[in-house]
Amino acid sequence: MDKLLIEGGARLSGEITISGAKNAALPILCAALLTSEPMVFTNVPRLGDIHTLLRLLESMGVRSEREGDTVTLDASGLSAAVAPYELVKTMRASILVLGPLVARLGEARVSLPGGCAIGARPVDQHIRGLQAMGAEVSVEHGYVHARVRRLKGVKLVTEMVTVTGTANLMMAATMADGETVIENAACEPEVVDLANCLIAMGADIEGAGTDAIRIRGVERLRGTTYRVMPDRIETGTYLCALAATGGEGRLLGTSTDLLEAVTDKLIEAGCEITPEEQAITLRAPKKLRAVDVRTAPYPAFPTDMQAQFMALNCIAEGAAVIRETIFENRFMHAVELQRLGADIDIDGNTAVIRGVSQLEGATVMATDLRASASLVIAGLVAQGETVIERIYHLDRGYERLEEKLGALGANVRRIR
Ligand code: UD1
Repeated sequence: MDKLLIEGGARLSGEITISGAKNAALPILCAALLTSEPMVFTNVPRLGDIHTLLRLLESMGVRSEREGDTVTLDASGLSAAVAPYELVKTMRASILVLGPLVARLGEARVSLPGGCAIGARPVDQHIRGLQAMGAEVSVEHGYVHARVRRLKGVKLVTEMVTVTGTANLMMAATMADGETVIENAACEPEVVDLANCLIAMGADIEGAGTDAIRIRGVERLRGTTYRVMPDRIETGTYLCALAATGGEGRLLGTSTDLLEAVTDKLIEAGCEITPEEQAITLRAPKKLRAVDVRTAPYPAFPTDMQAQFMALNCIAEGAAVIRETIFENRFMHAVELQRLGADIDIDGNTAVIRGVSQLEGATVMATDLRASASLVIAGLVAQGETVIERIYHLDRGYERLEEKLGALGANVRRIR
């Protein structure tokens, strides 16, 4: 298994380009299941999770071609509406094929995602929504089996804000009979990006980006070309890496509009942020100030940036409180950060972090995608060498990580 070796202490500086958003690309690629015409997607990041999804789509008879950051999908030969456990277990987002398959074929069999390191993460809202739209849904042998002649438009109110749940039900509703309204919908920019792609395919959708999305079903959707939005979590992660190392750098192909809750916190920590239309420049202070963080659905502070801010607080001046309200078990990075010398107390969903003057390099283990990113940030500022094991988590979500960090001047090496 690959490891990442980081020699801490370098002050990062320079310019890198942010990739397309993983969490936008995953649902958008699934939208190709909704049409028999070819779809062309650009700015698709080369990531483990995207590769897994493309394999899943191919297993259903979708033809896929990839050239650089462009992916062409042709679901005219869609033959099997089955998402097997082997592919779903490695990536929960595989559940995103459920809505489009039921909409297009009237039937789907998708494995339940199963346990996940950061919490239980059930898919009951996806199932309830499809049932309300008239589908007969059963859970048998670990698979969700949904059947319907044609979905019908209804008013749906999800019990909590769910990002993939909103995406799944929005895709399902595009070809339903009549109008669907999703209330308590997720407002995440990735949901808006999916809606924009569906609209380009001929769907009739209003209100994406608000908590009420209205979808009027159409008979069919057509093929189109669509560019995936920039990755706001990758953006935030590199901003944190620059901030932690006292650095200064410019991120291209991205925008502060996507992550104001994050840039506001970086400014509170003492960073200077200069937004441009398609770039962000960050200049770090000599010493960061500790900042409290409470995660919540968009536009509040994203749970996917919580671990990276814990790493910042480990070396900041003062003490900070982090509250995680989305997932029940998302502090696994804390024990690994402690191995690097961090001072962290955890009580339920609350972490108290007291800044220390210096972290020290050690061997640590990546436990999930964003936890791994926090270990990289900590490793960049730790004295000496940090070895991060199980970096396949990082490869799931960060495109060319060593190359981008290297371009900013970090001493990072992958050991195979
Ligand atoms: C998405 C993101 C993930 C991010 C998360 C929260 C993708 C591919 N992944 O995950 O990176 O961390 O949003 O911003 O976009 N829940 C239920 N029942 C459901 C659905 C969700 O109880 O049917 C709960 C979950 O367990 C969790 C909360 O609702 O506690 C939010 O989950 P959700 O927004 O669905 O997360 P994902 O869409 O899986």
